[in-house]
Amino acid sequence: MQANQIYRVESECVTRYYVWDPVVRISHWINVIVVGVLIFTGLYISTPFYRPNADEPFSATIMATMKNLHFLSAIIFTLNGLFRAYWWFAGKTYRQWFRFHIWRADFWKEAWWKLKDYITLRYTDYELHTLGHNTLATLTYVILFLAASVQGLTGFAMAGRINPGGFFDTLFGWVIPLFGGEANVRMIHKMIMWGIIGFMIHHISFVIYLEVFREKGMLSSMITGLKTRPLGWEPIEKPWEKKEK
Ligand code: HEM
Repeated sequence: MQANQIYRVESECVTRYYVWDPVVRISHWINVIVVGVLIFTGLYISTPFYRPNADEPFSATIMATMKNLHFLSAIIFTLNGLFRAYWWFAGKTYRQWFRFHIWRADFWKEAWWKLKDYITLRYTDYELHTLGHNTLATLTYVILFLAASVQGLTGFAMAGRINPGGFFDTLFGWVIPLFGGEANVRMIHKMIMWGIIGFMIHHISFVIYLEVFREKGMLSSMITGLKTRPLGWEPIEKPWEKKEK
């Protein structure tokens, strides 16, 4: 890792590294909002938990509003995701820390080392071995991105059924026979949602845990773009080869 090549601000006892550029940060917070709306509206579409009496003003339109909100958020989610995928290659800061070398044994050694570290909640001296994602996190984000893509495909395929032969049906209609019918597509869409909810529970609780016990400033890095390390800190290439204390 080339820590010296990136922008850094040194103060008396810490070095601040510029890790997340504005595109990464803004797209992260857009995701937080739209995925929140997608989960809420999706759950409502699936199980309308609030049904106003027929004589109340918006009783007839509440489901339509939820479906419209779901679709609008889905469009934003898709555009945000596509731009973010482009930014993996075009962006300067994020690309630098994106390590997806699954063909290298070291990728899996690091992921396994991290998994053991996380499951056992051990504290080691070497946990801050990288500024960006460790390889286990990288793997998780790639799987998440693929799951979100399937979510989009199944969602647009369902949307296409509203107007057979129309724009969305023509582009995404093939997804329905691929998964063996509309009921399966709906079920997969819903199962991925629960996967995303599981990820979110883990993601939020873990960044709080890491912030408190291991990596101060981690939470604010998604707002400021800066991560902090002790002065003189150097990334460790193969931390799993170091002896534990
Ligand atoms: C590009 C992304 C997405 C598109 C295009 C999309 C589209 C759709 C469509 C068209 C429906 C069917 C609505 C109907 O029955 O008329 C639906 C249902 C649903 N969506 Fe999405 N959606 C997307 C992303 C998401 C995400 C990210 C979540 C949650 C994390 C989600 C959760 C749900 C749920 C729970 C349902 C109800 C399924 C059921 O009928 O039981 N969707 N979505």
